Amino acid sequence: MPLSQLAKSIAESPTLRLNEEAQLLRDKGEPVIHLGIGEPKNKAPINAVLSSAAKLRGGDVKYVPTDGLPSLKKAIIRYTEENYGRMVAPENVIVSVGAKQSLFNLLFALLNPQDEVIVLAPYWVSYPEMIKMVYGVPVIVTPGDGSFVPRMEEIERAVSPYTRAMIVNSPNNPSGVMYPPELIADLVGFCERRAITLIMDDIYHKLVFDGKQAPSALSYTDADIESTHVVIVNGISKLYGMTGFRIGWVVARRELVSVMTNIQAQTTSCPPVLSQAAAEGALTGVQTGVENLRLLIQNNRDIILNELRAFPGVHVNKPDGTFYCLPDFSAYNRDSVALADFLLKKALVVTVPGREFGMEGHLRLSFAGAGKDLLEGVKRMKWALDPNAPNDIYIGDRKLIRDWL
Ligand SMILES: Cc1ncc(COP(=O)(O)O)c(C=O)c1O
Repeated sequence: MPLSQLAKSIAESPTLRLNEEAQLLRDKGEPVIHLGIGEPKNKAPINAVLSSAAKLRGGDVKYVPTDGLPSLKKAIIRYTEENYGRMVAPENVIVSVGAKQSLFNLLFALLNPQDEVIVLAPYWVSYPEMIKMVYGVPVIVTPGDGSFVPRMEEIERAVSPYTRAMIVNSPNNPSGVMYPPELIADLVGFCERRAITLIMDDIYHKLVFDGKQAPSALSYTDADIESTHVVIVNGISKLYGMTGFRIGWVVARRELVSVMTNIQAQTTSCPPVLSQAAAEGALTGVQTGVENLRLLIQNNRDIILNELRAFPGVHVNKPDGTFYCLPDFSAYNRDSVALADFLLKKALVVTVPGREFGMEGHLRLSFAGAGKDLLEGVKRMKWALDPNAPNDIYIGDRKLIRDWL
């Protein structure tokens, strides 16, 4: 069957593929440690469950407005006021099936074929693929100094007359780095001056450690929501660990929201009502779960950081937020895909190759899982890679001898 050139050019999601591979191994009884996961382990907040269950019990589960349940939009408006200090109208908000769909719809709404979008490396794997799916061109900016924070000059150099948008994710998946407020301020100023849409993917903005706060791009512009070029993407997936409910949203000027609503109307219609009810419950219920999750993940960050800092040859940045770090393993193998494969085969540890995020030589490790898995995972990696680590190890109830170093 002939398939479109474009469709064939779209890469598989490496993280979803790794989840499937890990599950297959687990189904065979293999004691896999999964350091590739992109979701916290917590249960959904009780208010989310009750709110969704009440809707289901009523049995009245029908189409609702394409852009989201008015009551959920009201909760998002309140969230925007509390967290961004901005009053917005219902017409500035559109709810979608996860922040993933929000981003796709945004790009579909903004780009003409061959328009360029600036993507800052390391970047979330889906950005370049999504841009290509709407016939745009991703322009990757990689920090020249080996850090995870590009300099403003580097970004400006990548901008051309075809640049329509820029995507910023801070705190950042995969590095955990939070960009400094000065860089966010400069990006906002630049995009406002040049009429470039600045897409702020704020999906991790509350998962920030050590008493820090993610700078809000909207606080660096005086323009009102109808004239600013800043667009906010957010959702419940990471904030409440509610990945399976698939609810995300965009806050933007009305014209953009209205076009995105048409796109959504012709593809998915409204996001599932039961999930919208759950999102509303989460947003309007007690928020202690968010802080508990943040503290748990901060503690996990400290555990994995300790272990990695004691891993000879590995260099790791201290994450400011998210539940990922991106250590440099190039001392062991510059080819991160080969290295991740090797670790899965030999040590039954799932990692995500840095190449997928535009950072070859690195591995993305998630610390969203249990603390004991982090300890065990890094121990196995050391055993597999470090010639000075003990030669044998127990993986599950099997004693394995390293015979390749
Ligand atoms: C940076 C980033 N943006 C967006 C998403 C998508 O979130 P959602 O589950 O709401 O689609 C993810 C999920 O991994 C992410 O890491």
